[in-house]
Amino acid sequence: GKVAVLMGGNSAEREVSLTMSGPGVLKALQSFGVDAIAFDPSERELHELKTLGIQRCFIAMHGRGGEDGTLQGALEMMGIPYTGSGVMASSIAMDKIMTKRVWLSHGLPTPRWVSLPSNALDRHRVITVPDELGLPVFVKPPHEGSSHGASKVMGYSQMQEAVELAARFDTEVLCEEFIEGFELTCPILGDGDAAEALPVIRIEAVDGKYDYQNKYFTDSTVYHIGTLPPEQEQEVRALALASYKALGCRGWGRADVMLRKSDNKPFLLEINTSPGMTSHSLVPMSAKAAGISYEQLCLWLLSRARL
Ligand code: DAL
Ligand code: MG
Repeated sequence: GKVAVLMGGNSAEREVSLTMSGPGVLKALQSFGVDAIAFDPSERELHELKTLGIQRCFIAMHGRGGEDGTLQGALEMMGIPYTGSGVMASSIAMDKIMTKRVWLSHGLPTPRWVSLPSNALDRHRVITVPDELGLPVFVKPPHEGSSHGASKVMGYSQMQEAVELAARFDTEVLCEEFIEGFELTCPILGDGDAAEALPVIRIEAVDGKYDYQNKYFTDSTVYHIGTLPPEQEQEVRALALASYKALGCRGWGRADVMLRKSDNKPFLLEINTSPGMTSHSLVPMSAKAAGISYEQLCLWLLSRARL
């Protein structure tokens, strides 16, 4: 049957989806002869999927309106199977604060945090660094991806600006304890008990900043696969898998983890339920190390599309 690769949308990650993830997935599916078309829900009415005779959707959208459960809910209502997590897991995972609450209730480690309502700024209060977190501290809009609106605050004087920036994206601002250590990510494929973690990637951004630019455009970031000691690799994979199951994710996902330098303890940062599929992206990189090509990965994900 006919397949639509959903790409674009209105989120801050529209460009990533529309110019990189979406076209990559479309081309991969077409290379197997799948009858697939590109469809941008921000430019067309979603009900056109029905008139076009679309029988399955590959969701290659990131952020709000694509990764956050709203699109998933609409497809449920229309009866069109789609790739990846369902409504609830998608919407919890889109909210980094709600995600932390679920993980904590499962006893899974995540950095300590304080959340500030964005309207704290309206009251002309001076925003200070929460005492319990100290410096440096990460300031993030809890519903964004690709580092949009996120800052690492190094000094007290930078706090106000960082909170103002994050507040432009969200009604709440996440202030998160900084974990000194290594930045890791671990993809997960499958559903429930059949889910499996793929090889862990350690990300080494040359200037120490794995930001929007370094995520998609520069070639200076170094990615290490298979370099962790085996016990540590297993520990991080098990944690990623537990983080995925705790939220009830399905299809695929990618857990971002910090490994604390002082004691090698891993902490969960977030889980992405519609991870990037660009030429620089991490899930295809890890899959490749496990012997799964980009094209095979896309076809496999599509084959798991469901309601
Ligand atoms: N949010 C981006 C697309 C990612 O996690 O890969
Ligand atoms: Mg993300």
